[in-house]
Amino acid sequence: MRMRKKKHLDSRLDACRSLLCEKPQEPVLSSVLHFGKESPLHLEIGCGKGGFACGMAEKHPDICFYAMERIPNVITNAVEKAIAEEEKRPTDNLRFIIGNAETLLEWFAPHSIDMLYLNFSDPWPKERHAKRRLTHRRFLSLYFEILNPRGEIILKTDNVNLFAFTLEELEALHITPSVVTHDLHHSPYAADNVMTEYERNFSEKGFPIHLVRFSSPLCQ
Ligand SMILES: C[S@@+](CC[C@H](N)C(=O)[O-])C[C@H]1O[C@@H](n2cnc3c(N)ncnc32)[C@H](O)[C@@H]1O
Repeated sequence: MRMRKKKHLDSRLDACRSLLCEKPQEPVLSSVLHFGKESPLHLEIGCGKGGFACGMAEKHPDICFYAMERIPNVITNAVEKAIAEEEKRPTDNLRFIIGNAETLLEWFAPHSIDMLYLNFSDPWPKERHAKRRLTHRRFLSLYFEILNPRGEIILKTDNVNLFAFTLEELEALHITPSVVTHDLHHSPYAADNVMTEYERNFSEKGFPIHLVRFSSPLCQ
């Protein structure tokens, strides 16, 4: 049974090759490698079903987007969705990466990324799992290596504990956020917001959405 499942996933992945990136021999320096043009590079980590990445790529044709996800089955759904949308509009500014955020330095050169998005990252509520949270300082330090010194990171979440943890991590690193809101959808930042699948789900259930935006310590 497991073999058949794997075979099925392999053939689906094969059909997604046009939008899936192979790990480069040298970390990516600019958008030229995968997009063939010089543009700002934005990266989403933990893209899930890909609604945010597809929506942002459509809204911002002058920006090139990478969407990273560690679970092959999940990202396959995202890429299939992007390919289906390709019939309506080209996806020449969106590529997907199957990978864990822990491997970011193998993918991206220092200061290559202009904007990084963490959308509804897994909260890992148990204290002994704190190091797995994508806003733990061990991940933040990876992001700051690949982030352009003028670049920024945005976290959106419904989870108050993950949000509080993130603000504590930033304070410990002497980073002052440029934006903090506890109710994104009723804030001035709502106008530019592209919703993710989790965001739609949680906000329909009445949960407020929290957002923090911050830059690298090099810029503080
Ligand atoms: C709660 S889901 C949110 C999905 C999507 N961002 C949304 O808002 O609808 C979190 C996603 O992040 C992925 N993820 C968690 N840790 C990751 C890591 N270290 N590297 C890459 N992806 C990760 C999970 O597999 C999962 O698909």
